[in-house]
Amino acid sequence: MAEVLQKVVDEERQGEAYEPFVGDPNVFNKKFYIESYGCQMNFSDSEIVASILHNEGFGATRNFEDANLVLLNTCSIREKAEQTVRNRLQAFRKVKESKPGMLIGVLGCMAERLKAKFLEEEKLVDIVVGPDAYRTLPGLITEAEGGQKSVNVLLSREETYADISPVRLDSNGVTAFVSIMRGCNNMCTFCVVPFTRGRERSRDAESIVNECKDLFNRGYKEVTLLGQNVDSYYHSPMDGEVTNFAQLLEKVALVSPLLRVRFSTSHPKDITDDVLHTMAKYHNICKYIHLPVQSGNTRILQLMNRTYTREWYLNKVKRIREIMPDCGLSTDVISGFCTETEEEHRDTLSVMELSRFDMSYMFSYSERPGTLAERRYEDDVPEDVKKRRLEEIIKLQNQLSKENYQQDIGNTFEVLIEATSKRSEQHWSGRNTQNKVIVFPKGERNLRKGDYVHVKVSSATSATLLGEMI
Ligand code: SAH
Ligand code: SF4
Ligand code: F3S
Repeated sequence: MAEVLQKVVDEERQGEAYEPFVGDPNVFNKKFYIESYGCQMNFSDSEIVASILHNEGFGATRNFEDANLVLLNTCSIREKAEQTVRNRLQAFRKVKESKPGMLIGVLGCMAERLKAKFLEEEKLVDIVVGPDAYRTLPGLITEAEGGQKSVNVLLSREETYADISPVRLDSNGVTAFVSIMRGCNNMCTFCVVPFTRGRERSRDAESIVNECKDLFNRGYKEVTLLGQNVDSYYHSPMDGEVTNFAQLLEKVALVSPLLRVRFSTSHPKDITDDVLHTMAKYHNICKYIHLPVQSGNTRILQLMNRTYTREWYLNKVKRIREIMPDCGLSTDVISGFCTETEEEHRDTLSVMELSRFDMSYMFSYSERPGTLAERRYEDDVPEDVKKRRLEEIIKLQNQLSKENYQQDIGNTFEVLIEATSKRSEQHWSGRNTQNKVIVFPKGERNLRKGDYVHVKVSSATSATLLGEMI
């Protein structure tokens, strides 16, 4: 079953390996290679892992053939995500056969889901580590070096890695992810995340703000606060003040007016007016919300245990637009969930039309072992029907995106320059506050990554705006 991620930039990141870390070869006498799959949380976790490994004398390499330790940070969200990882492991087999000392480790959600079973299923794997056990990697590596297979998949109620400074290895030096919480308590019936990431817990607010300050001092201009459900962020220290998500946003916004703040993901049931007013109040909090709808039909939403109705969702969208008329909006949609009828599918299409999303991540339902849906419902929508519904969803989103991007022609936006355009050395690429990518000629001005400029849009595709600096 084909799955589609409309946002090609994100798809490009799947399986990304890190930029080599050039350190003193006397200190970094061993090399690790890491590839990441799945969501931004996983990419962010790989930066924690890199930090732990650096302290153990491992430098990073981009060539797995050169590595003493090869790591895959894996995702279980859909069957296809797991298949990709298995294929990748096969690619490592040859090299490992000719390099017996090389260790292969599996990290992340698939490690957590399969636990020690992974070692039986994939004989070439030496180490299996779940998302809350990365601190124990050094000990596990030592065990594996001694010829023993090693596993730690314990989930924790406390671990947030708050004190570990992530190593930003493959970064543009302008934008960074900052993890603010881990786990999820929501139990959407289709979703494997509560099982692979454990209970929700919020990271110490001060450590988050300090990490953002440090990034800003090192030249970064944008942070994205990450969590599966950021609106339920709640930190209540023994002896200090309580911080909710709106308050955290404000604290981070106050680091500097030149530091852009984004966040992901918001759950429609939890995003409050307080959060929306805080966004509206600070220019540097980007006017963009990723608000996964999943389905536009109330019966299906109930089966999914999303705890909101179609009307609740549409009211949230209305509220967002009342408070921030210029706010960008994107979503996640699943086609063909258990028992979905044709009419219920059309409810999803109509919610998309009414919400006029700028962009969507669109998937067909993939049953995951151990989830509530797998235990309670039959995965009874035939694959060809799921696929056809998904195609209709994609077609509609493409049309909405196109219309939406066309409407930006003639408008001027503040853009943070992130990189030279992938297509042309002569163009910069950046994003506006609504998270739309804008590409424009570098011209004569002596600008650098991390600078803010104003760009007037002159044309558009369904995923990119093109313009000129003014
Ligand atoms: N925490 C986020 C999303 C995490 S997973 C949230 O609550 O919105 C990212 C997306 O993957 C989900 O929003 C959903 O659209 C999709 N997804 C999750 N499980 C899936 C499954 N079993 N089949 C198909 N898509 C799924
Ligand atoms: Fe999964 Fe739902 Fe939690 Fe998102 S909110 S991670 S979809 S259980
Ligand atoms: Fe995948 Fe785990 Fe993220 S299942 S989507 S990597 S939380």
